[in-house]
Amino acid sequence: MSYGLLKGKKGIIFGALNEQSIAWKVAEKCHEEGAEFILSNAPIAMRMGEINALAEKTNSEVVGADATSMEDLEKLFDAAIAKFGKLDFILHSIGMSVNVRKGRNYTAINYDWLEKGWDVSAVSFHKVMRVAWDKDCMNEWGSILALSYIAAQRTFPDYNDMADNKSYLESIARSFGYYWGERKVRVNTISQSPTPTTAGSGVKGFGGFLGYAEDMSPLGNATADDCAGYCVAMFSDLTKKVTMQNLFHDGGFSNTGVSQKVVDKYDTEK
Ligand SMILES: NC(=O)c1ccc[n+]([C@@H]2O[C@H](COP(=O)([O-])OP(=O)(O)OC[C@H]3O[C@@H](n4cnc5c(N)ncnc54)[C@H](O)[C@@H]3O)[C@@H](O)[C@H]2O)c1
Repeated sequence: MSYGLLKGKKGIIFGALNEQSIAWKVAEKCHEEGAEFILSNAPIAMRMGEINALAEKTNSEVVGADATSMEDLEKLFDAAIAKFGKLDFILHSIGMSVNVRKGRNYTAINYDWLEKGWDVSAVSFHKVMRVAWDKDCMNEWGSILALSYIAAQRTFPDYNDMADNKSYLESIARSFGYYWGERKVRVNTISQSPTPTTAGSGVKGFGGFLGYAEDMSPLGNATADDCAGYCVAMFSDLTKKVTMQNLFHDGGFSNTGVSQKVVDKYDTEK
């Protein structure tokens, strides 16, 4: 069901790789709600070509950009400004750790790989906002979002240096969010349940993460579709004064000490 919540709103959506991607679902829902946007991804990811099907479905243009390259981002924002004038929303749905990909344990981290993953997963959020800031291209009451994970607050083995990247990402949302307040723009992160996507499934033991979170969450895991709904709400005019927050979207996982389901699994007296 569509509510027309984003009618007339324009934006940029980063990170739709394939149908499983959270950004893919966000793009579909933003389109249903009346938004117009540019889709962007790293040129290497776009070579797979799947994003073109999404562009067709949502009547949007695709502009490639490596989110760590200021030059690419400048070109992308220039294209968005030429098409839309000012923007109302930006979704940063980007993450990658070389240490995770290559199965390097946290205790033996490769620091060059750490820097690369940090740049892609966290600093790129600053770069995106910096370019938008310098070009002064956000409308008042615009909304900027990035996606995070609870490993920023609590330790999950094998989430590796992505945990540190997510902490940094959330901190950037607060720090830059303060300055964006001057321009009446809000900046938040959504801390999403484990979700079966290319990036998610790349984490060792992901099936265990997913099942455990499902059993620990009173409402069950939030799906990529659920996340898309939350992103739409955050881009809509109904959330104008929410800023500098890390918003848990996890079926209650973050505030559950232990669930009955998990207790039952360990209760030998039963
Ligand atoms: N899947 C989960 O369990 C989960 C949970 C919480 C948060 N998140 C976060 O959600 C976001 C989206 O991930 P996803 O799960 O949809 O996986 P995904 O693999 O579909 O998306 C990750 C995207 O990052 C893009 N990317 C990588 N390097 C880039 C670069 N240099 N420039 C531009 N784009 C680049 C990839 O091409 C891909 O589209 C990430 O920030 C991820 O950490 C995921």
